[in-house]
Amino acid sequence: KTIFILNGPNLNLLGKRQPEIYGADTLDDVETRCRALATSLGFQIELFQSNHEGVIIDTIQRAREEAAAIVINPGAFTHTSVAILDALNAYDGLVFECHISNVHKRESFRHHSFVSGRADGVMAGFGVEGYELCVRRACSLLSK
Ligand code: DQA
Repeated sequence: KTIFILNGPNLNLLGKRQPEIYGADTLDDVETRCRALATSLGFQIELFQSNHEGVIIDTIQRAREEAAAIVINPGAFTHTSVAILDALNAYDGLVFECHISNVHKRESFRHHSFVSGRADGVMAGFGVEGYELCVRRACSLLSK
């Protein structure tokens, strides 16, 4: 079974962008660690990043056929996108929302998420380790 790890805008800059908030690890580092973890548990991962809302929606639609779970960090689209929520509502698998930073400790406009109401679990403030924790949880539920 495959888990999609979807990343929204500006996460291609992970490791370079505001490292005091998001840390020094890159998205490639995240992919390497999540793949090692998933493989050890008998699952596959595919990691995507796009700065474009429509591309993220297309990938969520692909997940309907190709993925048993989605781990998604929608970046700023978390706080704006009804369209990403609608795409997730059209998806039957597990959904985990992952934020590197603790959005609740930051500006009030980051406190609301359109995605959380659809998510089976939400991570915020665990740094990039949050991705691995989401993958671990997805694998454990999918193994039952
Ligand atoms: C983020 C938090 C969002 O508010 C922000 O727009 C991001 C990253 C996080 O991972 O902490 O781009 O989703």
